[in-house]
Amino acid sequence: MKTQGDIVAAARDLAAKAAGAQELMESVVRLLSAERPYYSWTGFYLMEGSDTLVLGPYQGKPSPHTRIPLNQGICGAAASSGSTLIVDNVNADPRYLACSLETRSEIVVPIKRDGKVLGEIDIDSDRPAAFSDDDRRLLERVANIVAARL
Ligand code: SME
Repeated sequence: MKTQGDIVAAARDLAAKAAGAQELMESVVRLLSAERPYYSWTGFYLMEGSDTLVLGPYQGKPSPHTRIPLNQGICGAAASSGSTLIVDNVNADPRYLACSLETRSEIVVPIKRDGKVLGEIDIDSDRPAAFSDDDRRLLERVANIVAARL
């Protein structure tokens, strides 16, 4: 398993090589899914206007939530607050919008540039309380790399 530093370096490499944001997000999804097997669903949502998140590249089961208003879901809450959200038990969180019955925990990391939320990285795990501070730091660093290309 690659360390946080290795993955960040690999993401920087992908950002340097990618032709555009779409290609970069696709390759980052592949990188994170391959290096962190407990990331059961890994994807991007991007802001459309000021009140809706739209599903971007992802790996995992097809999500029924292709468009999420900012006042809904854990995704909406993270984008509204501009801060990373970790939910150790999704079934105990009334905001949770289910994507898969197997999901137990979730992390959502806003992608920000100049203080503005442009989108987010959303990861579900089939393991309860799967996400640590290391995941948070890793994904916030990766979000900054992607932010520069959006
Ligand atoms: N669980 C998210 C919805 C997106 S799916 O997990 C892919 C939420 O509660 O906002």
